[in-house]
Amino acid sequence: MVVDVGIDIGLLKSEIKKTYASVSQEPETDFIFPTGRAWAEDLGYPDELSQVPDFVAESFAGVANPWVLGRLEPGKRVLDIGSGAGMDTLIAALMVGPEGSVTGIDMTPEMIDKARRGAAELGLNNVTFVEGEAETLPFDDASFDVVLSNSVIDLIPDKDAVFSSIYRVLVPGGRLQVADVTIQQPVSEEGRRKIDLWTG
Ligand SMILES: C[S@@+](CC[C@H](N)C(=O)[O-])C[C@H]1O[C@@H](n2cnc3c(N)ncnc32)[C@H](O)[C@@H]1O
Repeated sequence: MVVDVGIDIGLLKSEIKKTYASVSQEPETDFIFPTGRAWAEDLGYPDELSQVPDFVAESFAGVANPWVLGRLEPGKRVLDIGSGAGMDTLIAALMVGPEGSVTGIDMTPEMIDKARRGAAELGLNNVTFVEGEAETLPFDDASFDVVLSNSVIDLIPDKDAVFSSIYRVLVPGGRLQVADVTIQQPVSEEGRRKIDLWTG
């Protein structure tokens, strides 16, 4: 499928999956974006970071710290969109406790595998990971109190689809807690066609 941003969406998704499979499986690679536990520490991640297993933290690829927007109350139902290796998902699960629940969704299978191993390592029973896409969230209407996302929406050309999906699954008055990249100037047509600029 080709959308009006001038790129082939199927090709873009397969390049994104390749990039993040590599972040999962070869985290020591020198990516064009920062990764890992030291990066999360620099960003001022909350104390729960110390409980996140090393094999999850090494594949953290967030762009900023969504926790500066506040902690989560116990008992909340949370969705982490583009959960990657599960860093924010696991932190959310520790915050909401056993009465709460957290679901992570990601389209890259290698990330989902690692995130599931992380939840098992921590013995968390309130976390589920689902392989799927942000534009077509496979969840009931109004089924989450909070939607989290870190460095994902910037990778998706169809922002309207993502935000309408988010607003559908959030309860009325729910909370959207996002860390992401924004641009202040329009990107040139030539720039928009460069897949590498989208995947990183
Ligand atoms: C930059 S990484 C961030 C991962 C995680 N949030 C973190 O902070 O470490 C982007 C993640 O979004 C996922 N992703 C990208 N586009 C997606 C889409 N349309 N639907 C679901 N996941 C997507 C990728 O597979 C990747 O795991």
